[in-house]
Amino acid sequence: MAVPPRRSPVRGRVTPHSCRSRALAALLAAAALAGLAGCERRPLADARFTQVPEADPTRGQALLAQYQCGSCHAIPEVPASEGAAGPTLAAFGRRSYIAGEVPNLPANLIAWIESPQALVPGTPMPDMGVSPRDARDIAAYLMSLR
Ligand code: HEC
Repeated sequence: MAVPPRRSPVRGRVTPHSCRSRALAALLAAAALAGLAGCERRPLADARFTQVPEADPTRGQALLAQYQCGSCHAIPEVPASEGAAGPTLAAFGRRSYIAGEVPNLPANLIAWIESPQALVPGTPMPDMGVSPRDARDIAAYLMSLR
């Protein structure tokens, strides 16, 4: 069997030591900044992350009563909503996660309301048969709760 000739290693440029340590310091600073950004407490408070386009939050508020979401959830300004089987939906627009695992962004919240079981298989919240349009309006109302 023929042995392939050994390639000579490509030589890197020789960097003066002081320069290398400065580059390392810059890298560490960047990493620290990135770390800080990751610790930002409430990025979802930004309106860009909570606005549901082309939705009617007032209609959503009425739908929450109609679908009887309040049999399991406490929901501000929705009649007959003192249920305790599910978590309170008070200040939901400030919540970072849905069901503790899915980032609380409009598209995810709409998907959750339409079919929680599809988004988080095995979640104790049942599918409520909410139509896409209704889910959109309900999400708009929940996102408005701050
Ligand atoms: C039979 C009880 C029940 C009904 C009815 C119900 N839910 Fe839930 N819901 C739950 C439970 C339990 C959870 C917690 C799920 C989890 O953490 O996996 C939940 C979670 C949620 C969450 C996420 C809450 C959080 O803190 O992360 C939202 C939003 C939500 N439900 C909206 C609705 C809406 C809107 C309706 C009506 C269309 C509704 N729910 C009807 C039981 C219910």
